Amino acid sequence: MSPFLLTRTLPEDATGAALRADVLEGLTGTPKTLPPKWFYDAHGSELFERITELPEYYPTRAEREILLARAPEIAAVAGARTLVELGSGSSDKTRHLLDAMPGLRAYVPVDVSESALRQAGEALVAERPGLLVHALIADFTHELVLPGLPGPRLVAFLGGTIGNLLPDGRAAFLASVRALLSPGDALLLGTDLVKDPAVLVAAYDDAAGVTARFDKNVLSVLNRELGADFDPDAFDHVARWDSEREWIEMRLRARAAQTVKIPALDLAVDFAAGEELRTEVSAKFRENGVRAELAAAGLELRRWWTDREKRFALSLSVAG
Ligand code: SAH
Ligand code: AVI
Repeated sequence: MSPFLLTRTLPEDATGAALRADVLEGLTGTPKTLPPKWFYDAHGSELFERITELPEYYPTRAEREILLARAPEIAAVAGARTLVELGSGSSDKTRHLLDAMPGLRAYVPVDVSESALRQAGEALVAERPGLLVHALIADFTHELVLPGLPGPRLVAFLGGTIGNLLPDGRAAFLASVRALLSPGDALLLGTDLVKDPAVLVAAYDDAAGVTARFDKNVLSVLNRELGADFDPDAFDHVARWDSEREWIEMRLRARAAQTVKIPALDLAVDFAAGEELRTEVSAKFRENGVRAELAAAGLELRRWWTDREKRFALSLSVAG
């Protein structure tokens, strides 16, 4: 069996310190917010996988359709020997790319979720003898240091996860990806597209309530990691389309006035009845917007593919 390496690029307490800083900033500001990366403990990662199977949540199926149709073309254009995937999660759709890339030597999944990396990495080395899997536990919004593996490299960022960054964060993120690319390398980017708001809202507020559980899971993370006393049942999950910014917002709305204690921060947070805590934005894109954001980061859009219903796009770009 080929090797599976797992490297933590953050110091042991970096996650704890970052969580404390994010929670302090987010819950003492107005409006209250939390960054979505804290959804993904082992349970949150599992709930996300369940979301991808929901009838209302089309992005995973739409992106898979594009990958199935285009993987050979992506592989031919990129000619990569190393595939780096940011926010790789279960690496499930990635298998379609791996299947089309027989010349690939190494796969570098990068994620904050150690459980997702271990599960995916161990399965992949067992399935694909000869493929080196070097997983990185890392935050892709911080400077990334990649292992010295053979180029050309294809950096994939799938699922529409770029939409979970705010516009300034997206610009900084794309500039940092640009800095990783050498001549001959490429970026494969998944972006969910603007569409009927009813379809969008249903995708983030499914009838079975799985997305509501995923949303509330961030409160359980704060309870476990910071000793907080959030009652997840005291909040309602809300998904709303912002037509001006063209993004979905997930929020948790306090059912009644309440005070939540967070001992690790020596903090008490008051919520008014009906007050909303924003837990995620999920921006939706148009081709020209993606092209412009890439160009602003020094990246040139070379290919643009959508699924048949034009719900989701994959693009391939190179350093300009
Ligand atoms: N790419 C997969 C998973 C998408 S879910 C797919 O398309 O289905 C988003 C993934 O990004 C999760 O696995 C989550 O743990 C990871 N993630 C979110 N924020 C992150 C960050 N700042 N740094 C690294 N990984 C992050
Ligand atoms: C990971 N990311 C692209 C998902 C999204 O659609 O924004 C996370 C998610 N949030 C709710 N459902 C899924």
